[in-house]
Amino acid sequence: MENLFQRIQTHDIHDNLFRLIGQDWMLITAGKPGNYNMMTASWGCAGVLWRKPIAMVFIRPQRLTFEFVEKQPYFTLSFFGEEHKGLLNLCGTNSGRDLNKMDIPGLTGLATPSGSVGFEEARLMLECRKIYYDDIKPELFQVFDIEKIYPSKDYHRFFIGEIIQAWQKK
Ligand SMILES: Cc1cc2nc3c(=O)[nH]c(=O)nc-3n(C[C@H](O)[C@H](O)[C@H](O)COP(=O)(O)O)c2cc1C
Repeated sequence: MENLFQRIQTHDIHDNLFRLIGQDWMLITAGKPGNYNMMTASWGCAGVLWRKPIAMVFIRPQRLTFEFVEKQPYFTLSFFGEEHKGLLNLCGTNSGRDLNKMDIPGLTGLATPSGSVGFEEARLMLECRKIYYDDIKPELFQVFDIEKIYPSKDYHRFFIGEIIQAWQKK
């Protein structure tokens, strides 16, 4: 890991997070080397909570990644260059239930010190320890157009991860 990536402080991430998450997209990965799954996400956020640097991801319950994140104490967020957009689209339109995502050429799993998995090809990775989760509750929406996002009532579960390490490609 440390031959490809250098540890950086979260406050030294210079990317614009709105672009990074919302437009460039990320892979949420959970599991262990040899048994992991990842999915593309473009909803999420990062900041500071409970005096910790944190990231929040929003995962619908039918995703296979949901099961992995549920079971594991850690997850990672991986960010890539534009040349990987096609692979991110693949991971965002296919479930690990139908496709073994560990075998996708161009996405080489990389064990992280916490025992989780990131990717050799990523340019930035956040290693997160799950510290909280909850479910979106429709009765709490303060504006009513959000409900339209959930015609199947598959409300996201959100997971808050403490960012225990940020890694930047050397
Ligand atoms: C650009 C993009 C962004 C996405 N963002 C999310 C998201 O934030 N949360 C979510 O639950 N699904 C999101 N998805 C859908 C999942 O990536 C998709 O359903 C994926 O196939 C789930 O894979 P899995 O079943 O292997 O976990 C997104 C898909 C794309 C293409």
